[in-house]
Amino acid sequence: MAIVIEPQRVKVAPSLLSADFAELGAELQRIEAAGADWAHLDVMDGHFVPNLTFGPPVIARLRERTRLALDTHLMIAEPGRYIGDFVRAGSDLITVHVEACTHLHRVLTQIKDAGVKAGVALNPHTPLAMIEHVLGLVDLVLIMTVNPGFGGQRFIPEVLPKLRRLKAMLAEAGLEDRVEVEVDGGITPETAALCREAGATVLVAGTAVFGQPDLARAIAALRG
Ligand code: DX5
Ligand code: ZN
Repeated sequence: MAIVIEPQRVKVAPSLLSADFAELGAELQRIEAAGADWAHLDVMDGHFVPNLTFGPPVIARLRERTRLALDTHLMIAEPGRYIGDFVRAGSDLITVHVEACTHLHRVLTQIKDAGVKAGVALNPHTPLAMIEHVLGLVDLVLIMTVNPGFGGQRFIPEVLPKLRRLKAMLAEAGLEDRVEVEVDGGITPETAALCREAGATVLVAGTAVFGQPDLARAIAALRG
């Protein structure tokens, strides 16, 4: 259940955004049985992103249904106001967007102090310099490979050089073995291969998993 930070091994985190929302518990168990490493939970508030999904009460019930690590991606404004709720719901890792945090250092510290892993996400246009001074605080950097808000969008290839630069930044800081690099959006077996080559260690995929008849095969194809 507890999340293991292990950038040496590529992991697949299916996103429940593409699952059947009336059957979330069963869908979670399907990906667990199919060999998923983590479950990726997309929380949207209709403000930071133009879409709405679910929040802590739903996550708390999902927690009872699986042993998979819950990787919670907060696409919400002012995430610092809700960290306690998402921790109590059972998130193992909480990722906040740099664009949504005026006091990013404080929010990341809040997550760590609550005893869960902390991630920071960057939209496709957001420069890596925004996280340079918090790298020592995070367990994961999420490089968005689409503009957040919806599943089924096309991968933005301009993000690949950004991934390579992030890996160089982490190596320079001696953190390459301590920080996961996650990609999210438009991940297919083809784009997954490009991302793995550029240094991604956690691959999030909604459509490319739930859109396939054989989930185990779909997950294996992403892991490469
Ligand atoms: C997008 C979400 C993603 C989304 C990915 O805002 O953060 O996790 O579910 O969906 P696909 O894999 O379909 O692009
Ligand atoms: Zn996501």
